[in-house]
Amino acid sequence: MSAQMVQAAYIVAALFFIMSLAGLSKQTSAKAGNYYGIVGMAIALISTILGPDSQGVSWVILAMVIGAGIGIRLAKKVEMTQMPELVAVLHSFVGLAAVLVGYNSFIDAPLLASAAEHTIHLVEVFVGVFIGAVTFTGSIVAYGKLSGMIKSSPLNLPHKHKLNLIAVLVSIWLLIHFVKADGSVWALILMTFIAFAFGYHLVASIGGADMPVVVSMLNSYSGWAAAAAGFMLANDLLIVTGALVGSSGAILSYIMCKAMNRSFVSVIAGGFGQEVAVSSDQEMGEYHETTAEEVAELLKNSQSVIITPGYGMAVAQAQYPVFDITEKLRSRGINVRFGIHPVAGRLPGHMNVLLAEAKVPYDIVLEMDEINDDFPQTDTVLVIGANDTVNPAALEDPTSPIAGMPVLEVWNAKQVIVFKRSMNTGYAGVQNPLFFKDNTQMLFGDAKASVEAISKALQ
Ligand code: TAP
Repeated sequence: MSAQMVQAAYIVAALFFIMSLAGLSKQTSAKAGNYYGIVGMAIALISTILGPDSQGVSWVILAMVIGAGIGIRLAKKVEMTQMPELVAVLHSFVGLAAVLVGYNSFIDAPLLASAAEHTIHLVEVFVGVFIGAVTFTGSIVAYGKLSGMIKSSPLNLPHKHKLNLIAVLVSIWLLIHFVKADGSVWALILMTFIAFAFGYHLVASIGGADMPVVVSMLNSYSGWAAAAAGFMLANDLLIVTGALVGSSGAILSYIMCKAMNRSFVSVIAGGFGQEVAVSSDQEMGEYHETTAEEVAELLKNSQSVIITPGYGMAVAQAQYPVFDITEKLRSRGINVRFGIHPVAGRLPGHMNVLLAEAKVPYDIVLEMDEINDDFPQTDTVLVIGANDTVNPAALEDPTSPIAGMPVLEVWNAKQVIVFKRSMNTGYAGVQNPLFFKDNTQMLFGDAKASVEAISKALQ
């Protein structure tokens, strides 16, 4: 393929990526959005491999076959609940790739016409390696926290914000030295280690409840790392794609910060300005237990029911029996709706995907803001595997690690039934006063088994 044909193919691929993003923004068009992305990526790969700049194509194809083999195996094996971990690992690969591309581009520097172009190239290498290294270690810590290998509570080193600031200032100083010395490899290596440590510290300092924002922030960083690699390789499509990922990730992070009432700057600066409270296991009083049969009876006598699902529904794969009881209750003329918290589960839109999978109609699935005012007029709320997203401490306890986060105010309903297996805390590691309220009853057990038992009792 000639260079012009490759450029034309890149423009077509970029258009497919834009259509993909547009498609993914709505549930009804999300599947089509995925296909556009696949087509765009296929065009990008084929035209790059067949283009004039490619050498050793057989090695590239061998690497792709091995990579695709591992990828297909992983994608088939991974559970929906493990998706965020997988995404975090994939971001770390993008970061590492940007570091390697940076070093490669430094060692095998392209022939550049002017001194100015040479300086720009050096800055591209330095910045690309910095962003890549931060993304790499940051994503590995995110993976560790999401998979439970690392504790989700924030790391609190003394003077942690000063440490971050020093890392940034020293890196800037090294950049100046790197450019002045016409590419000092020691400055580059030293900065790489600082950036690795900085990325690790930045994400380790962020507490469990802010992890959703961190994951989308790392998504954004990985986009900028790819764009930086695009500049180093003079590849326009990589620049465009990186910028699309970088900016959409940043917009998503901003939206999530707003939804969780968090300061965007504070979260990306490693929890800057947040008071961290240690979660206490203080005695909260008595809780009341119930049975599936009693819940079925309660539901039969209700006129309006709201279901607020959370991570536990995903773990139990309870969405199918949940749809089943929804249909049974609706056929009795009971008004059943779903209330979805923006960070319920472990992925943006996690609950919406599960409910759509089980064929729950979209029009009864409402966002938190749309449904929060309706709880006082609701007879029964079923909290299925949710915990942090229905925790009143977020509104009532200013020392709580989740203080200020908007939550589904389920306790305002007449009766609340909480489905979970034990009195364990949720992802943020804080106890939930909801479980001890007079109008709350606990239905212990796996959410799927409990919902199936209710479904049976409703017959
Ligand atoms: P969580 O606070 O994580 O609580 C889930 C609850 O489900 C747990 O208390 C657990 O209690 C219960 N559970 C687990 N497996 C179960 C099963 N098989 N059957 C019944 N119950 C089960 O859930 P949430 O309310 O959805 O909140 C989400 C949390 O994750 C937030 O803190 C959020 O910040 C964080 N987070 C979200 C995202 C995104 S983007 N959504 C990403 C990363 C982190 P038992 O162990 O007692 O059963």
